[in-house]
Amino acid sequence: MKLLITGGAGFIGSNFIHYWLKNHPDDKIVNLDKLTYCGNLENLQSIEKNPNYKFVKGDICDLNLVGAILQENKIDTIVHFAAQSHVDQSILNIDKEGRESNETIQKLFEHSLPYDFVLNNTWGTHVLLEAAVKAWRGEEFRNKKFHHISTDEVFGALPLDDAGKFSESTKYDPRSPYSASKAASDHLVSAYYTTYGLPVTITNTSNNYGPYQYPEKLLPLAITNLLENKKVPIYGDGKYVRDWLYVEDHCRAIELVLEKAKIGETYLIGGLTEDVNNLELINRVLAIMGKSEEMLEYVKDRPGHDRRYAVDWTKAKNELDYKPLYDLDTYLEKTINWYKENESWWKRIKSGDYLKYYKKQYEKR
Ligand SMILES: NC(=O)c1ccc[n+]([C@@H]2O[C@H](COP(=O)([O-])OP(=O)(O)OC[C@H]3O[C@@H](n4cnc5c(N)ncnc54)[C@H](O)[C@@H]3O)[C@@H](O)[C@H]2O)c1
Repeated sequence: MKLLITGGAGFIGSNFIHYWLKNHPDDKIVNLDKLTYCGNLENLQSIEKNPNYKFVKGDICDLNLVGAILQENKIDTIVHFAAQSHVDQSILNIDKEGRESNETIQKLFEHSLPYDFVLNNTWGTHVLLEAAVKAWRGEEFRNKKFHHISTDEVFGALPLDDAGKFSESTKYDPRSPYSASKAASDHLVSAYYTTYGLPVTITNTSNNYGPYQYPEKLLPLAITNLLENKKVPIYGDGKYVRDWLYVEDHCRAIELVLEKAKIGETYLIGGLTEDVNNLELINRVLAIMGKSEEMLEYVKDRPGHDRRYAVDWTKAKNELDYKPLYDLDTYLEKTINWYKENESWWKRIKSGDYLKYYKKQYEKR
């Protein structure tokens, strides 16, 4: 296969490239990434000289560039990860309190307006779809695939005391500029299947964790703080439920989709079968790392913080034989060990500009 991976320098994309080259060493990969603050080529250092891997710095919104990459590299499979994905940042810009400091933060990241979420996530996906139709229509889409990575956040939120879960038939109800822009991109992908017959598949996945995750997200933040003997910030009462998916299970699920899924189908991918709230999750991390609850620090909540996401991944299990390989504790330990062994990777990120953002975001309640 000849794959175009968009956003391959980010957290999940870089894990996917490692996974794919390890399991499909003869395939060729082009990684198109514009290297926003989350894109980090250090994630791919160990394979940058692999003759089957090529990096192109560029924007998925650039139709000519995407078209040229598809033609020149005879791409037959697109796996589309590129997105602006940090919900806190999409909110920071519209939160009236502390607008001045938020503008400073915005300057630091230079791309955190809700406008950018719509541009990169929705328009960028549209450009990729157009480029794929143009490049592949002549061959009637034979042996071609466009796989779109999306999120369970497009379905909105579930109440805490509810046993319900999101499934493929759940109505879309996005609640942040991020999830609204991802929802729009999902609809575009489906529309290109219906309208042009572009062979698409979509996965909506829950919260990923594992190696190379930017340390502003809950788990890498908690682990790296504890490694530095710093407290772990917990939003509000900590009773927020997410379905935690180890990133390598996610990569395997995408592989299963590419190999077995029916064209035009959507699959939900999750990692858990029972609810685990943030407090319970971090308590497991504390236990594995031999730390006490004194290391927790409750911080003020963010606006519109969704209470619960839970994913029913029965369809992926039944049709693709997908299931997580190990349990949550095993994966947490693996993740903690990775951050222990890769201190220089996260220390560079956590110093400097990132600290300014961190201080603002996690000020004491
Ligand atoms: N992280 C999660 O828990 C999670 C959960 C569900 C779905 N997803 C989805 O998975 C995908 C990847 O998420 P992630 O956590 O790896 O994000 P990330 O922010 O770590 O990586 C995104 C990458 O996309 C690149 N990018 C952004 N805009 C671009 C553009 N216009 N052109 C080219 N490159 C661009 C960035 O430079 C970065 O390398 C996203 O589509 C996200 O919506 C993530």
